[in-house]
This record gives sequence, C-alpha cells and structure tokens, in this order.
Amino acid sequence: MNILLLGSGGREHALAWKIAQSPKLSKLYIAPGNPGTSQVGTNLAIAADNFPALKQAALEYKIDIVVVGPEDPLVKGVVNFFAEDADLKNIAVVGPDRVGAQLEGSKDFSKQFMFRHNIPTAGYLSVTEQNIEKGISFLKSLKAPYVLKADGLAAGKGVLILNDLDETIGELKSMLDGKFGAASKTVVIEEFLSGIECSVFVITDGKNYKILPEAKDYKRIGEGDKGLNTGGMGAVSPVPFADAEFMQKVENRIIRPTVEGLYNEGIVYKGFIFFGLIKVDGEPYTIEYNARMGDPETEVVMLRLKSDFVDLLEGVAQGNLNEKTVEFDDRSAVTVVLVSGGYPETFEKGKVITGLEEVEGSIVFHAGTTSKDDDIVTSGGRVMAVSSYGSSKADALAKSFSNAKKIQYEGKYFRSDIGFDL
Ligand code: AMP
Ligand code: GLY
Repeated sequence: MNILLLGSGGREHALAWKIAQSPKLSKLYIAPGNPGTSQVGTNLAIAADNFPALKQAALEYKIDIVVVGPEDPLVKGVVNFFAEDADLKNIAVVGPDRVGAQLEGSKDFSKQFMFRHNIPTAGYLSVTEQNIEKGISFLKSLKAPYVLKADGLAAGKGVLILNDLDETIGELKSMLDGKFGAASKTVVIEEFLSGIECSVFVITDGKNYKILPEAKDYKRIGEGDKGLNTGGMGAVSPVPFADAEFMQKVENRIIRPTVEGLYNEGIVYKGFIFFGLIKVDGEPYTIEYNARMGDPETEVVMLRLKSDFVDLLEGVAQGNLNEKTVEFDDRSAVTVVLVSGGYPETFEKGKVITGLEEVEGSIVFHAGTTSKDDDIVTSGGRVMAVSSYGSSKADALAKSFSNAKKIQYEGKYFRSDIGFDL
C-alpha cells in the first residue's frame, strides 16, 4: 500500500513514524513534510493545499490512501477535490469533506450540531452585526468570565476569555467589526465552564469508530499554565482523570451521538474527530471539535497506539473499521515541545540545531525545522517535540526533559512542568 501524508509539523512526523512501522506499507510520501519525515518516507515539495500538484503526485506514485494532517486542506475541500475527479476516484482520503470539516471550521456550525444531537456543551448564542443587541443582553445574563469565539478559523487566536463585562462588549463589537477578519463576522458567545480539560480522539469510517488513546495538552507558553496560548507545549497520555467511568460517559453522550449524528445528517465523515473535552463535576462537556488529530497530542497518541495504524487507515478506506481492533500500549507517553524564543509572538528563524545525535531513549519529532546546507535549522515557533515512553509518567518525563536539554539552538525554550499537575 502506498500512502501520501499531507502536512509538515510534529503531528505529521509522528503519523509518518507510526505509518512507517506497518508491514502493510510499501511507500510513504509526505507533502511537504520536514527533515524528520524524510527519515521515514519521501518528502515531496508540494504544499498541502496545492490540489492540482497533489493530484499529479497521487497518480505518479500510485497512491492508495491520502492521510490529511492539518485542518486547512480539509476546510478547503481536499476530500471533495479527490472524490469529484474521475482520475482520483479509487484513492481514499482519510479526512472529512468540506461540510464535515465545518465541525472545526465553524464554531456556530458545531454548536448547532451539538444542540441538535443533545451533546453536552456550554450554552451559547451566535451573534452577527444584525443581532448585536441580543448578544449584549445574553452577555448581561451570564456571570464572568465571558467567552467570545470567532466563528471561523483564526490561527488558534479566536477565543477570548474576559472578566470585565464592558471590556467583553467592546471586544464583541471589535470582533464583529473584523478583528479576526471574516472569521469573526459571526461570534459565538458561550457560558463559561470550569473544569479540567483533555483531548479524546476517534478514527471513523463514517459509520463505525474506534477510540484512540486520550491525551492532555499544555496550551500556555509559561510554566504553571500562565501567559499566552500556543499551539501546545507538551502532552501526556494516559490522562489519570479520564478513567473508565468518565470515558464511558464520553462514549455514550458525546462520541456515539456525534458519529451517528454525522451519519444521519448525510455528512460523509471518514477521518479523525478530535473532541476537546472538559470534565465538570465528573461530567464530560464538549468544548470544541477538530477535524484532525491534535498537535502535540499525536506525538503521544501514536506512541500509545499498539495496533497497526495502516490497518486502521485501511478500515476507514474500506468502510470496515468495525472489523479492526485497537490496542493501547500500557506504558505512559509524554512529549515536551521545544520552541523558538519569543514564540507565540515574534521569533527568529534559521537557528542551527545541534545535539540531536546525543539524544538517548526519546523519539524526536520535527515540527518547525528545515534543512540548510548540511544543517538542520529552526523554521517555526514550535521546533521539535521530544517524546518518550516510560513505566510511569515521571519516568517518561525524566527522559524527555533530559533529552530536551541536550538539543541546542539559540533561543531554545521549553516548559519544565509538563505533566506535573496530573
Ligand atoms: P476552543 O478553541 O473552542 O477549544 O477554545 C480554546 C480554549 O478556551 C479551550 O481549550 C478552553 O481552555 C477555553 N474555553 C473555550 N470555551 C470555553 C468555555 N465555554 N468555558 C471555559 N473555557 C473555555
Ligand atoms: N493541541 C491542540 C490542537 O491541536 O488543536
């Protein structure tokens, strides 16, 4: 089987690492990939949203399955593009179509979906310039803190949580006025939920689903969960508070109604569903959906997936995921993300990375790196994810922290408190 994986981050290196272990794999290509993915497959210099070039590559390399890493090509309709082209009809794409991807691409769409299917989530009101007065009344009916979300994709920056009502009303107006461009022409105002968060991942063929290992990620830049939000500074799996009783509630109240809801509404969804959950007084609520795997969660989820990943991808392609089994590795897995100094604000790129050959007992997934002459240099905010197995979480963390220290580049930063709160 030949697989084409789209994307270039740490998530994609982790997916590629796992795919490459499968006896079912013939050739793995990654578009565009990074220096890490080139260790386990063949990188193609094609952007993940350059559909005509992907078509050419898919035909030339006789691709059987395309796996989509990031949300952007999904929201732009890569699945529709492949399905509608007669030459590409026999190639399966693992990812939802343009409508399914709206679970992530539109907060208003996902809230309406959850309410239609009685999936527990925070109360909300969607507001545009036309009903701003209603929005202000709704805000006045809520208690602080106030949650405002840009409806569309806003590079992870579209959620504001504020304590002051007047400031919130001001922000609501500026969002509707285009603070996040077209993404905030509609704003979702939500009730604030107080609890502890975790991420649950499902792979589905549109009808059947399998639950993958859960994870907790650490979103803030600073230790003690302080400072600006990032794409994710580290992750841990398993998550102790996501015990069997909690996970059963998650499956019954959230996962199954979501997959059935999509199916019953005729939304073709073959791919990953990422449930961003919050546990409030023991009960699960859905904070958000994503139409893809999480990053850096994938850098621990793939470690804890014991089963053949390509077998599962094949189950999605053939619609017989019910015949597959998913086994988890009992060990703990953690990842610590090394970032560029200044991230998530401005940072410099092109810093030479050294010390990779000294790493022992961890798996280093590349994220924002690129090759320059004979060097690997930084090319993004999140540079690498240092993942480790351990007999305990503490054991795994000790390995990741020790190796995180061995990797060097100017401005390197990582959080030394990943996993400590669990
Ligand atoms: P989202 O992009 O919807 O996942 O929101 C980003 C982050 O904002 C979440 O991971 C939560 O930490 C927080 N958040 C979002 N919605 C709520 C809510 N209704 N109540 C409390 N926190 C929230
Ligand atoms: N780590 C959160 C995300 O991938 O959205």
